[in-house]
Amino acid sequence: MYSTPIYKNVHFLSTFDHKSDSKTLVIMNTLSQVYDDDITISHNIIPLDFESIDGVPDSHLWSQSDESPQRIQTNNPRDSLIPVIDLSNPCAIDLIGQACKTWGMFQVINHGVPLELVKKVEFEARRLFALTTHEKRKVLRSPTGATGYGLPRISPFFAKCMWHEGFTIMGSCVDDAKVLWPHDYQRFCDTMDDYQNQMKLLAHKLLLLSLQTLDVTQEEINWATSTHGSNGALQLNSYPSCPNPSGTLGLAPHTDSLLLTILNQYGITGLEIFVEGLGWSPVSPIEGAFVVNVGDLLHIFSNAKFPVVYHRAMVNQSKHRISVAYFYGPPIESTLAPLSNYQDPCFRSLLVKEYIRLKATHNDKALSLIRI
Ligand code: OGA
Ligand code: NI
Repeated sequence: MYSTPIYKNVHFLSTFDHKSDSKTLVIMNTLSQVYDDDITISHNIIPLDFESIDGVPDSHLWSQSDESPQRIQTNNPRDSLIPVIDLSNPCAIDLIGQACKTWGMFQVINHGVPLELVKKVEFEARRLFALTTHEKRKVLRSPTGATGYGLPRISPFFAKCMWHEGFTIMGSCVDDAKVLWPHDYQRFCDTMDDYQNQMKLLAHKLLLLSLQTLDVTQEEINWATSTHGSNGALQLNSYPSCPNPSGTLGLAPHTDSLLLTILNQYGITGLEIFVEGLGWSPVSPIEGAFVVNVGDLLHIFSNAKFPVVYHRAMVNQSKHRISVAYFYGPPIESTLAPLSNYQDPCFRSLLVKEYIRLKATHNDKALSLIRI
């Protein structure tokens, strides 16, 4: 089924182009270097050739025992569990604090990100995933690489493959885009650059609001929201329509690793969260809204005052679902420690890059490895 992969060469310093701020790029690429230099899990990371498939192969058929935690079908799929917060509401700060403490997740509207840009991102993501399998595999992420086309990063931890293909961007994507569209790459790059800038601004705003509801020092706020050395990654997710959606998974249960994730579901249901005592519950897409969730680093930083939410993505029988996630994190060389004003830290302190490596090698065991 798979052709021999030819992994693209990832040369970070060759990603400079005349439009980019070189300082930002060096900084942005450090996150990819953590993955690239240190993590060597070998696994088949090539997405299925969705063009030529008419059923779900055994490799992608999930039974209950393949999942962790167990797949629990809820009888009560309430879709309004997660609060929807209007950022222009004067009470937004309290609502965000409450949502972070209760759920580790909320949806945000009136966030100030131009709708036109949001739509352009979807258009460009669909343009990418509509390329032939042959074209997309030209920018295949190498087994130890960070950016490009491939399966979800958590794939090695599961016996079964996910009904998924993704494209990861950290900083400039010009090298890959030139391979995909030699004469027409600028539009894709400009759109992704603009979007990453907007996401970073929004992530800062949301982090600032959420942290102000905790007992936090100014120095700690500066660490979490500093623009200098911070890291962002953009993940374009594609879940092709699937002949047997209940037999497979788009994205297996996981928590996100960095501080905050901002996700757009682009109108198609699929994201589900695990709620203790209830099971899996869908997060309904809302026009113009982003889903925001706490990642492991913010869970640690908040001394577990903000829970980290297990989530997964389901697939659809008739619709090709696209989602776009932006992951925001602090400088990888900085030290991560639970907020100093809390007497009993739940976690030991460590370098951000150490945690990212722990997560990449131990997946959902990483948090328990640093728990005190
Ligand atoms: C992710 C993620 C959910 C979705 O990219 O980390 O959880 O709905 N995506 O695609
Ligand atoms: Ni996620």
